Amino acid sequence: MLEQIKERLNQIKNPATGGTFAVEKRWQHIALEDGKLIAEYNRDGISPAEKRTIETDIQKALSDLVEVNNILVKTTSTRSQDVFKALDKNTGDKPAPAAETQPAQLKAGHGTVGNKKAVPGVGKIIAIGSGKGGVGKSTFTSNLAITLSKMGHKVGIIDADVYGPSLPMIFGKRDEKPRSSAEKKIIPVESFGIKFMSFGFFINENDPVIWRGPMLGGVINQFLFDVDWAGLDYLLIDLPPGTGDIQLSMIQNAHVDAAIVVSTPQDIALLDAKKGVEMFKKLNLPVLGMVENMTSFICTNCGTEHHIFGEGGVAKAVEQLGVEMIGQIPLEMELRTGSDNGVPYMTQEQFSDRPVWKAFYEVAHRVENYFSPEPTQSKPGFFSRVLGLNK
Ligand SMILES: Nc1ncnc2c1ncn2[C@@H]1O[C@H](COP(=O)(O)OP(=O)(O)O)[C@@H](O)[C@H]1O
Ligand SMILES: [Mg+2]
Repeated sequence: MLEQIKERLNQIKNPATGGTFAVEKRWQHIALEDGKLIAEYNRDGISPAEKRTIETDIQKALSDLVEVNNILVKTTSTRSQDVFKALDKNTGDKPAPAAETQPAQLKAGHGTVGNKKAVPGVGKIIAIGSGKGGVGKSTFTSNLAITLSKMGHKVGIIDADVYGPSLPMIFGKRDEKPRSSAEKKIIPVESFGIKFMSFGFFINENDPVIWRGPMLGGVINQFLFDVDWAGLDYLLIDLPPGTGDIQLSMIQNAHVDAAIVVSTPQDIALLDAKKGVEMFKKLNLPVLGMVENMTSFICTNCGTEHHIFGEGGVAKAVEQLGVEMIGQIPLEMELRTGSDNGVPYMTQEQFSDRPVWKAFYEVAHRVENYFSPEPTQSKPGFFSRVLGLNK
């Protein structure tokens, strides 16, 4: 059987060159241990996107021989030194010795196939993406977190938006520096009952962000696995806007349960949001739903609803894409000022009669329901919900 596996693996092609792995002498180690296949190749010159193609090709080539969950693909690289060094700066890990070939699976985000790792102690992980920036993804993520927490859940957030990490500001913790425990786990920062970790804590606000994709994959891995998230019901990941390699490599190593895509109603944002939905589908990540943000503006003087960014676009998109619309959040100035001032909107009870407040509860219930679709009556928190009480 091993011989047969090796024969097939030798035919795997490097998408970058078209050459087979046999010709390029890429395979470093192929072994069967306790029914699990470990296959390790040299990935020098192979981009994260190409690496994913290779992983899929491997799964396909062996589909009748080894079960997907029993395939562990490791990569080695002679050039991951800079990746490790950069991590070292942020977390105190030891840099890898120069030019030494070694499995880079753990810290540099060089991934695995088939056995995505679960984050210890965390119930459900939800990735929150958007096709483009500025649609309100972070505003949405943080206020959804607070709403879920008011409904009795323990919630954490990973702010993975390297381009503009905004959670420290939204949660009023700009000057905080995370610490690590005696067990070398990073302790998440806590604010309004939400535990979170952000790139913002590790980069200077004025630094240009020139981190490379593979490294980002590695850092998000650390945010997932080296942070003490134990005890959470939900971990939300605020992804960087867009649908490129960075987003993909960020979520491919962990067992993520579902994705939410945030969009505004304009055509342009929607086009990008559709790409986002397609990206998650390609990753076999169930799309829990789409959220329309900045749906309309309700005039505080006359109560008239104005559809500033157009109307009905997201509804049409979800129909085309076959996903659910799980919420529509109006424009409200206090949603922005709350974020700017470090006191998130959903922590401010005086807004509890407003449309935005209700919209967040609507989404949070949809999320809760998605994961535990038992009849509402039997669910904890039902009465508090009916009575409009929090917690
Ligand atoms: N529904 C809304 N009403 C009013 N302001 C909003 C709303 N959603 C987002 N904003 C504001 O829009 C800006 C961009 O939102 P943000 O959450 O940072 O977007 P993203 O994370 O997608 O880049 C922020 O100033 C935020 O406060
Ligand atoms: Mg953001």
